[in-house]
Amino acid sequence: MTVSITGKTKIFGLLGYPVSHTFSPPIQNVAFQANKIDAAYLPFEVHPDNLKSAIEGIRSLQFAGVNVTIPHKINVLPYLDEITPTAARIGAVNTIRNDRGKLLGTNTDGSGLLRSLSALSFSPKDQTVVILGAGGSTRSILVAFAEKEAKRIFLVNRTWANAQLLVEEYAPLYPETEFKVESLENLFCQAIDLLLNTTSVGMKKGESPVDLAKFESLERVADIIYSPQQSSLLKQAEHLKIPYINGTGMLLFQGIEAFEFWTSQPAPISLMEQKLLKLLNG
Ligand code: ATR
Repeated sequence: MTVSITGKTKIFGLLGYPVSHTFSPPIQNVAFQANKIDAAYLPFEVHPDNLKSAIEGIRSLQFAGVNVTIPHKINVLPYLDEITPTAARIGAVNTIRNDRGKLLGTNTDGSGLLRSLSALSFSPKDQTVVILGAGGSTRSILVAFAEKEAKRIFLVNRTWANAQLLVEEYAPLYPETEFKVESLENLFCQAIDLLLNTTSVGMKKGESPVDLAKFESLERVADIIYSPQQSSLLKQAEHLKIPYINGTGMLLFQGIEAFEFWTSQPAPISLMEQKLLKLLNG
């Protein structure tokens, strides 16, 4: 791919630490090219000590927008001029737009996951969901599900207290949704529309966060893990003929939503998907 940079080229980028394994530059650059937008997307490794000056740099260098990734998603908040209500509820930002010097932050992780779940014909309204994990990504997913009026969200986590903190934070904000920390055994006989793994269990070969065979009524399974592409959890879902998706769609759609936030244009979804799959499959 050739990118021709001119004096008018808008600069976008990723701020993270590290950034060497990111898929975002090739995916975003493919999208800019396909939509004939004179823009380029670059990775920037920003040490946590330099985050403030890096954000000031967005203004002084007039970057058009950036993504923010680990470990900056929370710490970046005080340096922005405004954040969307969704990002405020999540307490983290992954996308920033520079509106003539005013930096507006949003978070596309949860909305990206939601869009990826359409592959399972899932939308949260009135649904019962089991979420494994209570970490950073869980927050964006909880907000996305609750904003779309999920009926019940059961949280299962190794450390009960971490899940309980999330329930205490979000239950008052979303009265339409019932939030509950639960142990797995109590969920085996429930009717569950979606079980979603947000833990890192499954990134190593052979490990799985739960035995799906124990559930009596489970409609769908999703894992936010995309490497391996088929975790042990998803292998078992396939074996049990339960429809499932991995985390590739979340990765793809958080980027698509960022592109759309920056450009106000529909993203070239299939091109971006092809590029990502090519990268993931080496
Ligand atoms: P992220 O920001 O990607 O969500 P995180 O904040 O580190 O990552 O969250 C990791 C989640 O995976 C947590 O829910 C964690 O459980 P704890 O709250 O008990 O720490 C869960 N997790 C990580 N390793 C685990 C393991 N070996 N077994 C069970 N849960 C695990």
